[in-house]
Amino acid sequence: MKACFAPENDSHTAFFEGWTLRSFASVASTNLEARNLPPWHAVRADIQTGGYGRTGRTWVSNAGGLWISAVLPATGSPSKWATLPLAAGWAAVEALSTLGVENLRLRWPNDIMVGRRKLAGLLVERFQPDTAVVGLGLNVVNQPDRIDPSLAGTTVRLSELISGGHSVDDLARLMLRSLRHLHRLLEQNSFADIAAEITERWTAPSQVELSLNRPAGSFRGQFNGIDHEGRLWLMSADGKPRAFAATDVALMREIDP
Ligand code: BTN
Repeated sequence: MKACFAPENDSHTAFFEGWTLRSFASVASTNLEARNLPPWHAVRADIQTGGYGRTGRTWVSNAGGLWISAVLPATGSPSKWATLPLAAGWAAVEALSTLGVENLRLRWPNDIMVGRRKLAGLLVERFQPDTAVVGLGLNVVNQPDRIDPSLAGTTVRLSELISGGHSVDDLARLMLRSLRHLHRLLEQNSFADIAAEITERWTAPSQVELSLNRPAGSFRGQFNGIDHEGRLWLMSADGKPRAFAATDVALMREIDP
């Protein structure tokens, strides 16, 4: 169906495939802008002045990237939706694959990588009991290291990977379509299949070091898969497997062999 637009303040609203998408020139954070919206609403902004990522880290959101937050229904027990952050990353990877992006992988829990460089990040937040806000930041033509030089060599943008000049509006629609499909899958309890695919796609160095949110400190081990609850399994040097939930991990580093 063709999208229709209705101007409103300095934003415009588009309706398509069951989604209501509000686009702004600038907001502090699309996740915060979306927090009180009902399911199947989304917010996109050309720039974010206070974009943030996991553990409150600053997310550079200069013009030319896709900064979007989508509100999904998440009714029932919170444990039913515990895998949503990882699953949403998988949905974004699937969507990007259809554009012909190669060598994509999902680095647990929320980074979309091409080799060792980060293309996109996700942040899922529960502001309301019955909804989840899925925030996605995708570098398209923007260069985050121009704003924060410490990011040099660690990020990649879509325009370096594929030709075709995809507009942020087209990319927004692609992502929202993929999230709707994912939501249907999760309603059918299909996360186990998704976890298997994420494990298969983990092509990075297998040594991983985690900095834990617990007094116990850090942990180092060999990647041993993602389970049906979305936990990361590591095998320690003494051969003992251990599982970690994303909420217990402040930072993850992949270590070159
Ligand atoms: C991360 O890698 O730590 C997650 C980054 C998530 C960034 C996106 S951009 C859209 C949405 N709004 C925010 O403030 N953050 C998310």
